Amino acid sequence: MFKYFIVIVSLFILSCGSSKENNNEKEKSPCENYSCENSECKVDIGANTAFCKCNDGYILSPSDKHICIKKEVDLCIDKQCNENEECNINTGNCDCKTGFVKKDNACVEEITDLCANKQCEESEECNPNTGECICKSGFEKIDDVCKEIVANNTHSVIIYGDNRDHEIEISGYKHTIDSKHPKVVAAMLNEINTNPNHIEYIFNSGDLVWDGKDPEHDAWDDFFKEIKPLVDMGITYYPIVGNHEHADPDDHTNGGDNFFNLFDLPETEQYYHVDLYGIRFLALNSNIDISEGSPQREWLIDKLDHIPSDIKFVIAIYHHPTFSTGHHGDDGDKTDLRSILHPLLVEKGVDIVFNGHDHAYEHLIADGINYIVTGGGGAILDQTQLSVGDYEYSEKFEGKKYHYCLLTIDGDTITIKAKGADERSNDSTPFEVFDTVTVQSHR
Ligand SMILES: [Fe+2]
Repeated sequence: MFKYFIVIVSLFILSCGSSKENNNEKEKSPCENYSCENSECKVDIGANTAFCKCNDGYILSPSDKHICIKKEVDLCIDKQCNENEECNINTGNCDCKTGFVKKDNACVEEITDLCANKQCEESEECNPNTGECICKSGFEKIDDVCKEIVANNTHSVIIYGDNRDHEIEISGYKHTIDSKHPKVVAAMLNEINTNPNHIEYIFNSGDLVWDGKDPEHDAWDDFFKEIKPLVDMGITYYPIVGNHEHADPDDHTNGGDNFFNLFDLPETEQYYHVDLYGIRFLALNSNIDISEGSPQREWLIDKLDHIPSDIKFVIAIYHHPTFSTGHHGDDGDKTDLRSILHPLLVEKGVDIVFNGHDHAYEHLIADGINYIVTGGGGAILDQTQLSVGDYEYSEKFEGKKYHYCLLTIDGDTITIKAKGADERSNDSTPFEVFDTVTVQSHR
């Protein structure tokens, strides 16, 4: 019996010893040695891991899961403010935005009257943004004083022609006599640089090169080199077909289409129109048919019958002169121009015609139309008049000056100034006015 008691006690002791070891393992919590700042350590029973549960008002630091940081209270969360208001994060109130003030329970733009008590001159007004006195509309500051702006409605364009070289044949050899075109271009550049008006357009009444069909393009290359300074200044250059261009748009093999390939002109390119500064410019081709029923004449009638109301003048430009006492004064070229074209221009009220072909300057008046021959662009000058019947129309002839015509348009008036220099003058001689023609609008 005692033996069995000892066995039972021994088993109990053994049993108790084993139970005590198990209890020690359970007491070793994951929170032991697990630090938590501003928080309490908790055990995730399922995972048997520790974690910090933040105290009220704290949130776990994004960078350290052992530390809880104080939670900022966003008083503006879900706060709706009115227009021109913004929520104050410290108070949670809706305050006026910067630049606005509370007025009648609404935030209105704060107006600071910088011009209050500001005294400006009669031609000035106060700038509410700066409080400075500035010129009123229609006035400009000159020498620190606001003066009325004088509207500048004047514009200028240049028309000239016959700038080509000249070729002669001696004993079977061709010789080129260079034109004085560079001298005329230099004078036009000076005009552009010194004229108070911004000159943007130049018309050439034809004979730009000796032979427009030149397959080598040498003459054209020279021409474009010569006008390059004008093009570089932004000038728009309108050429009109002369007889030396030998232009034939259908001649694609013999250089007849050179003119049309080298320029990008309006409409048919043979004849076209541009409206500038209240003037309708009509560029015609006097080498081709202008008789009744011809396409060119039909086109011309259409342009003359449909003139916009803001057009004050109509100017036609073509190469061969209708009236002239110069070298071509008795040419058959002008027969059709005089018998067919001139009556149409008179009937439709054309104001001015510019021609070339004669290497001279001439102003003629026929049936109310001012005809200007301007062929002094650089080709050998014609020097003298012929004894032909056009003397009755001639107002002024000048055959010894390289020149260009400067047109100045001022409202209802066009002033044409022929400006040139003697053919024997050196290249630096300034071009001076040697004829002035004034034309009034009748529209
Ligand atoms: Fe010509």
